[in-house]
Order: sequence, then structure tokens, then C-alpha cells
Amino acid sequence: MSELTGLVLGSGLGSLAEKVQVRETVSFSEAGLPESTVPGHEGCFLIGEFAGQEVVVMRGRVHLYEGHSAKSVTSGIRWMKDRGVERVVLTNAAGSVNPEFSAGSWMMLGDHLNLTGTSPLEGGPEFLDLSEVYGADWRVQAKSVAARLGLVLHEGVYAGLRGPQYETPAEVRMLRTLGADAVGMSTVLEAVQAKALGMKVLGFSCLTNWASGMPGATLDHHDVMEMGKRAAAEMVGLLESLLAEKD
Ligand code: HPA
Repeated sequence: MSELTGLVLGSGLGSLAEKVQVRETVSFSEAGLPESTVPGHEGCFLIGEFAGQEVVVMRGRVHLYEGHSAKSVTSGIRWMKDRGVERVVLTNAAGSVNPEFSAGSWMMLGDHLNLTGTSPLEGGPEFLDLSEVYGADWRVQAKSVAARLGLVLHEGVYAGLRGPQYETPAEVRMLRTLGADAVGMSTVLEAVQAKALGMKVLGFSCLTNWASGMPGATLDHHDVMEMGKRAAAEMVGLLESLLAEKD
């Protein structure tokens, strides 16, 4: 029996959920989570089967910028862990900071910059080793699946900011200098929480737009959602093949 997999779906990526043979739906409020207020972030868990695997899908998420704490933002990860999830795939929409990673393509997270100024582990002493948040073996497997399917899959560093405003051009130049390839407003706290709980973690950013100040940059939530919807089909294909493979 392979490990129970959790999938967290970001902005515009909800169509992945249509591929799940759902046995049970649990709303965020039933699970004791805050409801998301962002359009396109329906808040529920779907429990069922995807690509022949048992999955728990977290449809939508809550964000720091909605006024929630780092603990609240990561409560879905802890809920999934309590349901027996051992490995989790985090997806998000992000702006491309790397001029070589085109808008509309996917980037796998090789690492991240947590620039939110907070942590779900606050309150602990928990000096967690984050040398490998996103599992190296799982990343190698994802890359080979993408190559087999003929999908462009970049790998890079995701910078997680609080938002909710998009960045200024100067902030984007700063992020590039810091080594970021993509920028968004989620994922990093969930990844830290999942790692702290001993889960295997994989992350994918749908590069929905060029980041602020870059040639071709237009920053509009509606466009971000639309690009996410168009790119979601590629991610469905990749995850279907990836999860169907033996561990
Ligand atoms: N910046 C921050 N978050 C985002 C972006 C962006 O350019 N695109 C999608 N989410």
C-alpha cells in the first residue's frame, strides 16, 4: 500500500479536483479551518482516489494576507497529517522573476525563501533542519515524468511574501538578487509545517505572469486565475503519472 498523498490546490488550479473520484467532502469549517475569502479558493477537503491512489485534496487555502496567523494558514496541513497523509504536493500561482522561465509554464520548487517574517513553528523551540524541504528523490522522479510527457518543468527558488499587494519593480529586482525565480503569497509556511511533521513535500508554481516591472508584466488577479486554469491540465497529467508510479 503506497503512502496517502495530500494535494493542495492554488489559485485557478481547482480543476484538478474534477479528476478525483470523491468519496467524502469536508468543508473547511467542518474541519475547524477558517474559510478563505479569496475568489477561486473554494475551501474544502476532498477525500477519494486520483490516479489509482488514495488522496486528500485541499481545495483552496487561507493566506496570511486575509488576516490569518501562520498557525491558521497551516492548519490544513496538520488536519491532513491527522487523516494519515504522509506526503504532500503543494501548488500555487506565482509570478516569474526569472526572465528565462516563461509565463504559462510550471516551476518545481527546488527551495524557497520564507520572506513572510513568520513561522508556523513559532512558540516552539523547534530548530528544524530545512536543508531539504522539497524531497530530492521525489523531485528527480517528477523531472523524469515531465520529460517523458514532453512538459516544460523548470526548477527554482520560490519567494513567499505576505501580500496581498503585488510587488513593486524594485522588490522584484531585490528578489532576483536574493536568488528567487518566482514570487507568490503562499506555500512556504505549509512546506515548513509539513516538513516539521515529517511529511515528504513537493511544490509546483504555475508561473501565471511575469513579475512586476519585467517586460510583459500585467498584474491582475483575474488574469492570474485564467492562466492557472489553462495550465492546470498539464499539472493534472504530470501528477497522474507521478502518483501512479511506484515509490
Ligand atoms: N506576485 C505575487 N503573487 C503572485 C503573482 C505575483 O506576480 N502572480 C500570482 N501570484
